[in-house]
Amino acid sequence: MDKTAVVIGASGLIGKYCYKVLGSRGWQVIGTFNANSQDNLVYLDALNLQSVRKFIEENKPSWVINCASLPGGVDLCELDPELAFKNHLKIPEILINACKSFSCHFVHFSTDYIFDGNSGPYKEDDLINPISVYGKIKAKAEQLVNDNISDALIIRTTFVYDYDPKSRSKNFIQAIIEKIINKISVNVPTDQIGNPTLSRNLAEVTIDLIENEAKGIFNVAGVDRLSKYKWAIRAAEIFGLDKGFIKGVTTPELKQVARRPLSAGFELNKIQNTVQRRLYGIDEGLKLMKADWIKDSPDLFSYEVNNK
Ligand SMILES: NC(=O)c1ccc[n+]([C@@H]2O[C@H](COP(=O)([O-])OP(=O)(O)OC[C@H]3O[C@@H](n4cnc5c(N)ncnc54)[C@H](OP(=O)(O)O)[C@@H]3O)[C@@H](O)[C@H]2O)c1
Repeated sequence: MDKTAVVIGASGLIGKYCYKVLGSRGWQVIGTFNANSQDNLVYLDALNLQSVRKFIEENKPSWVINCASLPGGVDLCELDPELAFKNHLKIPEILINACKSFSCHFVHFSTDYIFDGNSGPYKEDDLINPISVYGKIKAKAEQLVNDNISDALIIRTTFVYDYDPKSRSKNFIQAIIEKIINKISVNVPTDQIGNPTLSRNLAEVTIDLIENEAKGIFNVAGVDRLSKYKWAIRAAEIFGLDKGFIKGVTTPELKQVARRPLSAGFELNKIQNTVQRRLYGIDEGLKLMKADWIKDSPDLFSYEVNNK
């Protein structure tokens, strides 16, 4: 197997760990950033067709891993569908075009937001029914990938978190912990259910699939399926912080711009029967995240525990 890859969006939550895991397994890997410059990465605007083609032609990767996304997430997609279209459909289209021209394998990340959340957890072949702009565009992107690259790998994942201080968009747990440290209360939905997924575990499993030359759609997520509220409470407990700052509310009370699939998340039989690697539960994931955070800020959490 030719172990050369480019990770588009290696300055983001998922791309960062894909880049790291590939490097640790001896792959020759180039990672890109867009607005958030980082030393080890190279600049690329994946919306620029000519730049993408030049980048792929010059670097000749066997694999192109698309981790590009829109900072601002699901609600910004709802507010600005054109921007959502560019980031979640135009970028895949441009990358697919380049992969076809230069014979690269393509890996793409998708989501459980392509479902309506009436009957999760979802299997790979369940019928999709997106209820938000983000979900609809991500569903179209999957279709585009399937229609154009027969051996593409599509990873559906959800509720991704990890220690990630440099990304432009803060993941859910990173944001919750920072709020509690700053003594700010936060409203968290008790009725949005999914599988919290540690980004480094997602990356390891994704690279396992790539190394097995797997193709098609795979659900890859953590083994625990629970509400964002229960997840946030467990995070506060594991980080030794005051969980009184976390207020449980319903989704209608939150008044989020985009609709959320409530009973979402994934069944994981297919991936568990395909790769040997364990999918982490939240306790293991949160402890690993905390350990990395402490390496950067050794006194942060001991201070909180002692002063509760
Ligand atoms: N996070 C989740 O919970 C989750 C769940 C399911 C599916 N997904 C999917 O997983 C993928 C990655 O998500 P993520 O959470 O890792 O996103 P993220 O942390 O927001 O990172 C997004 C990455 O995209 C890059 N980017 C933005 N605009 C770009 C452009 N024009 N050209 C090239 N790169 C660009 C960003 O670079 P700069 O920051 O340098 O600008 C950053 O590296 C997305 O397809 C998302 O839909 C995520």
